[in-house]
Amino acid sequence: MSILVTGGTGYIGSHTVVELLEYGKDVIIIDDLSNSKIEVLDSIKEITNKTPKFYQINYLDKEKIRKVFKEHDIETVINFAGFKAVGESVAKPLMYYHNNIGGAINLLEVMQEFGVKNFIFSSSATVYGDPKVTPITEECEVGGTTNPYGTSKFMIEKILKDLYNSDNSWNICILRYFNPVGAHQSGLIGENPNGIPNNLMPYITKVANGELEILSVYGNDYSTKDGTGVRDYIHVVDLAKGHIKAMEKLEKEKSGLYIYNLGTGTGYSVLEIIENFQKVNNVKVNYKIVERRPGDIAICYTNPDKALNELEWKAEKGIEDMCRDSWNYINNNK
Ligand code: UD1
Repeated sequence: MSILVTGGTGYIGSHTVVELLEYGKDVIIIDDLSNSKIEVLDSIKEITNKTPKFYQINYLDKEKIRKVFKEHDIETVINFAGFKAVGESVAKPLMYYHNNIGGAINLLEVMQEFGVKNFIFSSSATVYGDPKVTPITEECEVGGTTNPYGTSKFMIEKILKDLYNSDNSWNICILRYFNPVGAHQSGLIGENPNGIPNNLMPYITKVANGELEILSVYGNDYSTKDGTGVRDYIHVVDLAKGHIKAMEKLEKEKSGLYIYNLGTGTGYSVLEIIENFQKVNNVKVNYKIVERRPGDIAICYTNPDKALNELEWKAEKGIEDMCRDSWNYINNNK
């Protein structure tokens, strides 16, 4: 039996593949390499001494996905594939809805055809919109997303709920990630977006190594501890381990629909992240305060209790690990 990982050469996908291989699972990756590199497979092999099976396939290509299901005995599908740039999603909504929602529906249809019912979905804290209360629990209201990327996550969650309601033999776990950062401690896999990064940590690393001149801090007039935005940053290896726990949960339960927030439960401001990054890595990060970024919220962090109680999972790595490993990866992959 194998685990099928879509988007398995991407940032979170590759770290999860490493954990799955180290756990002893057979892994099949499908990825169209639209936002990742084939060399990631060599890095996975170097870390684990194992080679996952790889197909360069776009998950919209149903015939090719069918072929993978015919060739392998698949027990669980973990779906990481998807477009994820918020700004781009505002400019190209049809492309985002077509790809993210169409791809998920394709996978689920093929799974149904082959009687595979275990599905783990990469969702995001973005489904909570601008939360009315923090820390955020899984019971908080969802919806109110402010961009097509976030709305695609929200819609796929809805589709999964409808699917489960139509057939209770599905076994689905929705994982709502907070802000993934960091990299594998080997420095062999991590996040290195093409072009100018949108997210804070990749931007900081590129300012620190001189590729970019200065970080813009988007607003210092939020009602937070120092006026800058507060987020729940989580180390990507902790996040990957959360998927192992979700897989174990599905193996144990046989059917159901489960939803978990994956975060640390601690919120850090932008200035605290900069401070920690400078201290841990002994480098300077030039920054300036600019206007707020449209669509940003003030505070977003989770109450991690449900994942702890039901999955026996909690984040182990702290802010120093996140800053150190992000920097280590960038220096290893110039
Ligand atoms: C963003 C997305 C979210 C997505 C997540 C994936 C938005 C509105 N939300 O979350 O949907 O799931 O990425 O990782 O884009 N910041 C700066 N300067 C920068 C970049 C960011 O000050 O150059 C600040 C932001 O204002 C925010 C914090 O850093 O307060 C984190 O930003 P970012 O890393 O982009 O993540 P989110 O906006 O939380």
